Amino acid sequence: MSKVTVVGAGNVGATCANVMLFNEVADEIVLLDIKEGLSEGKALDMMQTATLLGFDSTIKGATNDYAATANSDVVVITSGIPRKPGMTREELIGVNAGIVKGVAENVLKYSPNAIIIIVSNPMDTMTYLTLKVTGLPKNRVIGMGGALDSSRFKCYLSQALGANPNELEGLVIGGHGDTTMIPLTRFANYKGVPVESILPADKMEKVVADTMVGGATLTGLLGTSAWYAPGAAAAYLTESIIKNQKKVIPCCVALEGEYGQNDICIGVPVVIGKNGWEKIIDYKLNEKEQELFAKSADAVRKTNDVLKEINAL
Ligand code: NAI
Ligand code: 2OP
Repeated sequence: MSKVTVVGAGNVGATCANVMLFNEVADEIVLLDIKEGLSEGKALDMMQTATLLGFDSTIKGATNDYAATANSDVVVITSGIPRKPGMTREELIGVNAGIVKGVAENVLKYSPNAIIIIVSNPMDTMTYLTLKVTGLPKNRVIGMGGALDSSRFKCYLSQALGANPNELEGLVIGGHGDTTMIPLTRFANYKGVPVESILPADKMEKVVADTMVGGATLTGLLGTSAWYAPGAAAAYLTESIIKNQKKVIPCCVALEGEYGQNDICIGVPVVIGKNGWEKIIDYKLNEKEQELFAKSADAVRKTNDVLKEINAL
């Protein structure tokens, strides 16, 4: 029996749970929120799609009842406030640090062996915080950002090329922030053909710019941050763990010298399987890419420093 808990039954959490249910990622899903009745209501609504969509997995809701989450294999933390138009992800730190810390401690009381996926923003800093406060082995704490940013990158690339996005490879590393993420244009390919060789440079520049502000664009349109692609990205990551798929997914993980960085959680391509993140893939960045990565790490570190200023660490 596989079991996944999603904490936060808001836009991203509920979407993530719904995608996992439909795709039968786990046998059992628990959706937990602090708002009375919200997770129970959403779980019941989703369960009533079982015969329409034809899935056999189950979902139940729980209002702040961590006993219901016991023995989860994976816990996805989406609880916290989202960005409003004009806000950066980094501005959410004060509120979300308290929420994420409390939630991580609670889930581990009942699921001491769980792998934790952090979605709440600022995600790189929330991942670092979770790693530090829980003392978990590094492979069991994974931040979700690169899966989403890479999906957005491939979406914009496919539109620029007039190609099927599923025929494209493309990955985004670095921090999950408007100015910190790094779409790796040099490695983007269309069935093995480098995209840089078939897309004019000015069009590639626009794809990169659109990708980097992908979240902000949606926040401007929706009045809050996006949820369909974020929820699906968290479900995709969870599935690779539960089914031990060993997919290579850019994720926020603790670096100990890899990519030239230490004492930081930031996005790099990793193999995701039943043990969490199992291996970092070295893309052998060129000088310019290394410089961008170092700058991104500096920015993430500045946000991490706020954790000390607000006594969260
Ligand atoms: P939302 O406001 O729709 O949902 C958040 C939910 O968390 C609410 O239902 C709230 O009641 C719940 N919550 C708050 N404190 C809680 C606690 N202590 N325990 C349990 N539940 C609690 O927000 P949305 O849009 O779902 O976003 C959630 C977070 O995910 C935000 O921080 C947002 O910035 C982040 N996000 C991250 C992305 C990524 O790629 N890493 C992408 C999209 C959003
Ligand atoms: C997003 O990228 C705001 O992190 C959120 O949509």
